[in-house]
Formats: sequence, C-alpha cells, structure tokens
Amino acid sequence: MRVPGDLKWSDVTPKPLWVNRRQIIAGGAALLATPALAKIEAAKSVFSTTDAPNTLEEITTYNNFYEFGTDKGDPARNAGALTTSPWTVVIDGMVDRPGSYGLEDILKDAPLEERIYRFRCVEAWAMIIPWIGFELGHLLNKVGVQPGAKFVAFETLVRPEEMPGQATSILEWPYREGLRLDEAMNPLTILATGLYGEEMPKQNGAPIRLVVPWKYGFKSIKSIVKISLVAEMPQTTWNMLQPSEYGFYSNVNPTVDHPRWSQASERRVGAGIFAGRQDTLLFNGYGEQVAALYAGQDLAKDF
Ligand code: MTE
Repeated sequence: MRVPGDLKWSDVTPKPLWVNRRQIIAGGAALLATPALAKIEAAKSVFSTTDAPNTLEEITTYNNFYEFGTDKGDPARNAGALTTSPWTVVIDGMVDRPGSYGLEDILKDAPLEERIYRFRCVEAWAMIIPWIGFELGHLLNKVGVQPGAKFVAFETLVRPEEMPGQATSILEWPYREGLRLDEAMNPLTILATGLYGEEMPKQNGAPIRLVVPWKYGFKSIKSIVKISLVAEMPQTTWNMLQPSEYGFYSNVNPTVDHPRWSQASERRVGAGIFAGRQDTLLFNGYGEQVAALYAGQDLAKDF
C-alpha cells in the first residue's frame, strides 16, 4: 500500500513519456478504440498502489461489459455507438435530496483523484488500472443519506439500440449491483469518470462507473444511471443468475474458491507467458482499509 512520501511509477516517469510509451506499445488499436478523449486534471491519491499500471491498450481491449457482448474484445468493438452525453443519474430511495442529476451536477466540486488500484476479476485475471474518480461517499453525503438506509443499489443503462448484448438474455437487464452502506462509504470506494488521465473510455463504463478494489471486478458496475438508498439487501445481476457461485459480498478471498475454479492465484493481464501466476491476496491486498468492515462475519458463508 502506498504511504505518503512513497514514489510510484507515474511519479518517476514524466507523463509525456508514459503517454508516448503506451501509444507506441498500443499502436493504432488503442487510438481507434478510444478516440479523442478529453484530458482530466486530478490530484494523486495516497491510496494508490506502487505497482506499474497495465497499458492503456490492455485496459481498453480486454473487458467484461456484457451489454456489448461476452467476448473480451466485444466492448472495444461495439461500445463506440454508446451516447454518453447528456447523461443523468437518478438518485432515489432513502435520501434527503432525491432527483435526476446531470453528470455535470455530480462532478461539480467532486474531488477528483488519480487512484492506481489493483483490480481482480472473478475469472482469476488481474490488472493495475490508473482510475480517475472521487469517493462515492462524497456524492452520498451531498444527497443526504437517511437513517433507515442500509444498502446502496446501482443500475446500468438499458438501451438495446446502442447496446447489442441487451438484445440477448445472457443476463437480466439492467445490470445491477449493490453494496452495504458502510462498504459504499469506505474511502476506497470510488465513482470513476476516467482512466490514464483521460475521460472514461466507453468500453470501461463511460461516463461514470463504480470501482470497489477489494471485491471481484463484477461488483464494479459500469455506465451507471441509477443509485438507490434502500433498507434491504438489493438483488445483484450475477447473484440472480447463479446464487451458488456469486454471493452479495464477493470480496476477493484466496481461501474461498469459486465452485468451478480456485481463487488462490491470479494471472496478470499482459505479463507474458513466463511471468507465472501470483498469489491472490485477501481483500485484494486492501485488508488494512477494509477488514474491519467484516469483523465477526464468516467470509466463507458471506461470500
Ligand atoms: N458492468 C456492466 N454494466 N456490465 C458488465 O458486464 N462486467 C463486470 C464489471 N462491470 C460488467 C460491469 C465485470 S465481470 C468486470 S471484471 C469489470 O466490469 C470489468 O471492468 P473493465 O472492463 O473496466 O476492466
């Protein structure tokens, strides 16, 4: 975990250099996949890992976003048609100021930071991603969470004309996710609006998506249009599909295997065939920040 005063890769490498390098590595593909994205200024976060990020090409061409297809390359191929402006997010349920908020309102005075997070997918691959985002807690405090609220439910856009995967019933649409309120308020939980210093590529969940770095990647719901503060544990897409395989919590845990594969190790995307697998860390290595949230809970039961 980075502590103030630590150096990380992007501190020691001037930005124009890493931008160039990744463009050279990426070649034309990434430029095609992510055309003309606006730059975003953001402070650096003390929560960043010191691990070197994956390349922009890896982050934007190996995706899960079933609204655009199930192949890892489908989101980069198909997400270009998604209209992300204007964008509104409905915030409702147990809040003092419910409403339909324009993205500009949400971003007004949001303290954007660059957060380089380890990201661990349930399929046992991992990446390091330099997100730009702000704490979900900042937004929840702005709308005023009422005392009865215990969970936060999220929904992705439903727009089959622009999201070809929604013409299929591979998942039930809208894609849904949820967090317990204390998980949502944890400072590691962010709403991300960009990565690599630019606005969010569409295949990564433009214009605004959740990132919860101690949970399997599927909790990090993309292209959010609805946030509801609720009293009961909400339904979530993967749990609805297969409750024995995907629990509500979905904390990264090397000792609790997925019924069909081990979670003890992971493959770093782009690391090359000789790099080998790495041990998966409890809470994806963020235990210092989040273990206390689950004190007294049996994580094999609450998986
Ligand atoms: N959000 C939506 N709306 N639809 C999806 O299919 N896939 C999830 C998550 N969020 C998904 C989603 C899964 S399984 C993963 S691993 C991450 O997005 C992948 O995020 P990335 O493509 O930015 O790496």
